[in-house]
Amino acid sequence: MQAPLLEMKQITKSFPGVRALDGVSFDLSPGEIHALVGENGAGKSTLIKILAGVYPHPEYDGEIFLDGSARCFANVRDAEKARIAVIYQELSLVKDVSVAENIFLGREPRRFGVINWEKLYSRAQQLLDDLHLAIDPLTPVRNLGIGQQQLVEIAKALSQDARIVVLDEPTAALTDAEVETLFGILNKLRARGVAMIYISHKLDEVFRISDRITVLRDGRTIGTEATSDLDEARVIAKMVGREVGQIFPEVKHERGDVIFEARNVTVEDPGVPGKLLVDRVGFTARKAEVLGIAGLMGSGRSELLMAIFGAHPGRKSAEILVDQKPVQINQPSDAIKHGIGFVTEDRKRYGLILDQTILKNMTLAGLRKLSGRFVTNEDAEAAAGERSARELRIKANSVFTIAGTLSGGNQQKVVLAKWLLTNPRVLFLDEPTRGIDVGAKQEIYAQINKLAERGLAIVLVSSELPEVLGLSDRVIVLYEGRITGEFTRGEATPEAVMSCATGHARRAA
Ligand SMILES: Nc1ncnc2c1ncn2[C@@H]1O[C@H](COP(=O)(O)OP(=O)(O)OP(=O)(O)O)[C@@H](O)[C@H]1O
Ligand SMILES: [Mg+2]
Repeated sequence: MQAPLLEMKQITKSFPGVRALDGVSFDLSPGEIHALVGENGAGKSTLIKILAGVYPHPEYDGEIFLDGSARCFANVRDAEKARIAVIYQELSLVKDVSVAENIFLGREPRRFGVINWEKLYSRAQQLLDDLHLAIDPLTPVRNLGIGQQQLVEIAKALSQDARIVVLDEPTAALTDAEVETLFGILNKLRARGVAMIYISHKLDEVFRISDRITVLRDGRTIGTEATSDLDEARVIAKMVGREVGQIFPEVKHERGDVIFEARNVTVEDPGVPGKLLVDRVGFTARKAEVLGIAGLMGSGRSELLMAIFGAHPGRKSAEILVDQKPVQINQPSDAIKHGIGFVTEDRKRYGLILDQTILKNMTLAGLRKLSGRFVTNEDAEAAAGERSARELRIKANSVFTIAGTLSGGNQQKVVLAKWLLTNPRVLFLDEPTRGIDVGAKQEIYAQINKLAERGLAIVLVSSELPEVLGLSDRVIVLYEGRITGEFTRGEATPEAVMSCATGHARRAA
């Protein structure tokens, strides 16, 4: 490998009450993909933000060398000028404008001072074609799924002709096919000599794509080694500082009566009249049961749950029974009133108010439960909030920490805590462990299992098949908006479930 393109030496960064980085060193060579891994809150995103000029000098200690010379970026623009492009964990596209405008935001091609729209669109089209992305540059970003938004972010980074590209959790929301597209792009960039920093909790992907791996733990570098000298178990042990035994809990629920039933749920694509995203789907969930819903991305899983919850504009029909009695759910507050909780996949859009405290976020949905007639009972709230923060091991100074300052995985735990405080009887979980590290995943799995043991009915959607199979008592499979299979825990093998999920087989209960 050639001389390092980038060296970060002894980087230390503190936030009020938290030392996020403590003497971290990291280097990067041209044409290298260097993976950065570590538990939630280990300091990965913070290190990247220092490189990107988000935290300029002297807000941190330590040195950054580019091509051997010391650099201090005063702001994000400065780092961009040094051809460093960052794709952040929380997407930052402007939802209301087109894909093309997002790609060239602030750098629009101009003629006589005015934006040259023709050129803007044709250059965006060219860039998307280069990446083999079938996305119309004229589409407003809000019409894209999160996976496609992520790919647009990547197109945007590439439009800046970067020599260092940083990807913070790029595949969290991508389908398998989109991951392949992304990896194709990364391999092409590597061949062109672009250096990349790849942050991910998905170790199988890290092992597929990276040349070297650096492990961070509690703001310190634990080590950097060639990927070929490592294996997953060793990386996990370095990340968490202990051997992680069995990831999934032992599932032995005493399932009770049916407490939730949905019948005839049909959802139309609000953008494409006549196109059904969910087509007459029904299912039941029992007390003390985890019902897994498997299916590929786009199979209608999230839309199904959102429609039941009263949160999907395209809902055409849905009959819902709680305790075998029909109930009316026209909006989320109706669902909450009937004891249904919902941890959504897109935490930025539906789950979390980033500029509020952890406590405020946690108690938002459950306020009615904890409050008296006119005033909220603040002590009871704080006590309940602190208890769940402890139970879920949320890494923060206190429940008064602002949610937006938490690491990605810890934000997800706050969303989970929020719904648990509503004391639901039925809990919908849509991608509950997206962006969560292995150690914390194990904790969340144990929590889910415990909640089921306590008598909740849990409906679990996840793109990670091992997660669905590892936690569920029963699994239904969706394909193109319809149920194509139902399995008991014993019958649900990955092969059998996948053949229903891809439309190759059908299986009745
Ligand atoms: N703006 C901020 N204000 C206060 N604390 C912060 C801020 N940003 C990060 N932290 C804290 O610094 C630590 C490192 O956070 P960071 O986001 O770098 O973790 P991470 O490794 O990216 O985790 P994840 O895998 O969850 O994304 C955490 O304890 C986090 O709460
Ligand atoms: Mg992060």
